Amino acid sequence: MLRIKSILDNSQPEESLDVHGWVRTRRDSKQGFSFIELNDGSCMSNLQIVIDKEVPGYEDSIKLVTTGAALKIAGTVKESPGKGQRIEVHATHLEVLGTADPETFPLQKKRHSFEYLREIAHLRPRSNTFGAIARVRNAATFAIHSFFQKNGFINIHTPIITTSDCEGAGEMFHVTTLDLARLAQVQTEIDYSQDFFGKPASLTVSGQLEAEIYATSLGPCYTFGPTFRAENSNTTRHLAEFWMVEPEVPFADLDDNMRLAEDFIKSVISYVLETCKEDMEFFNLRIDKTVLETLHHILEHEFHRLSYTDAVAILTSAEKEWEFPVEWGHDLQSEHERYLTEEHFKKPIILYDYPRSIKPFYMRCNEDGKTVRAMDVLVPRIGEIIGGSQREERLDVLEARMKECDLDPEDYWWYTDLRKFGTIPHSGFGLGFERLIQLLTGMQNIRDCIPFPRTPKNAEF
Ligand code: 4AD
Ligand code: MG
Repeated sequence: MLRIKSILDNSQPEESLDVHGWVRTRRDSKQGFSFIELNDGSCMSNLQIVIDKEVPGYEDSIKLVTTGAALKIAGTVKESPGKGQRIEVHATHLEVLGTADPETFPLQKKRHSFEYLREIAHLRPRSNTFGAIARVRNAATFAIHSFFQKNGFINIHTPIITTSDCEGAGEMFHVTTLDLARLAQVQTEIDYSQDFFGKPASLTVSGQLEAEIYATSLGPCYTFGPTFRAENSNTTRHLAEFWMVEPEVPFADLDDNMRLAEDFIKSVISYVLETCKEDMEFFNLRIDKTVLETLHHILEHEFHRLSYTDAVAILTSAEKEWEFPVEWGHDLQSEHERYLTEEHFKKPIILYDYPRSIKPFYMRCNEDGKTVRAMDVLVPRIGEIIGGSQREERLDVLEARMKECDLDPEDYWWYTDLRKFGTIPHSGFGLGFERLIQLLTGMQNIRDCIPFPRTPKNAEF
């Protein structure tokens, strides 16, 4: 079956074809024919269909051709005399496959707010913006796999159900088959030995720990899967369910990790700019007038690297009224991250050597006893897009760190085994895929960068 993108790109006048799609608009002329703008999601552009009243069944069918209706058209390609399109299709046959009552169809031609569109997430991919986001997400997914595959990384499927908390932030969704309603009545303590896995289990917050297993066996590897965080943050940058890309590289230190992160982001941006031209021009015109400039600027400049300590010094001496005070030892807030990358350096930056007290147990400890070999990549408009580190490969240091973080090394016996048997320096990071989509499209809210967002009190569709 021909898709509209291929027709617009390749079809020549006098070609006969069938085309399927949904009506964006219909306009009737006084001379007894109608123009239909048809879209099938293969590209942003609509195909213009011209249908004459002589076409069999015109009188009965044409009034059903309303915004949102599904059509099958047979016709002939003609050069278009009108502005804005090379060709159009003159219909010889029209079939209305599915009507859409104009009184109740929720997606009218007018511009709707993104908040409203979130309420009709089952229809929003039929809008220009959400069609474009879906295509960019698809292209970025391809670019990610192709970057790693070209560089010899192995894709690993890490588990979605887990019994460890990689980030130690306690933001886990429980997975259980226990009858909670009954338990609430008869028991005050939960006996997890009765649960499906015989112990508490959760949805994963990261595939890193398992990716480390494969990286220390097979070489560079990566995961690209769903991750879940029950953090109750209603922000434009947080989802309860998001996708994360996590490469893990053996025999690599933090410098190697930073270089990989920069090459990786740039390669995905380049691919999307090259393959999604029409959609990217749309974002630049309708969503954020600076998005193309920002992306080209990122491609053309080296990411600036500086330590967390130096960043804190810049922030404390900045002439700014912060909502959250800046103090060494505290996590940076979005306003601080954005100031550094947008205003101070005006390009992506990589912050490294964060205080150990605010970072998870697995990061390699520095000799100063205060910091760990962490790195965050911060980009304009988003702030943190990547978080990663060099991993602690020394068994004694790792076990001490686990205790410091209130973790029992026994619970992570398989993770410490990797340090007992052939331990090596290694590093990796995680990129939040929806934050990358925010960067690529200029969309303000992360909820619009995933087909079906999950956020506090919201899991419809
Ligand atoms: O910085 P984070 O928590 O790092 C990790 O999970 C490491 N285990 C990764 C690794 O080293 N393999 O998360 C990584 C990235 C963040 O930089 C952010 O882009 C994204 O994941 N992220 C979220 N995206 C959307 N919604 C949330 N709630 C997110 N939390 C983190
Ligand atoms: Mg982080």
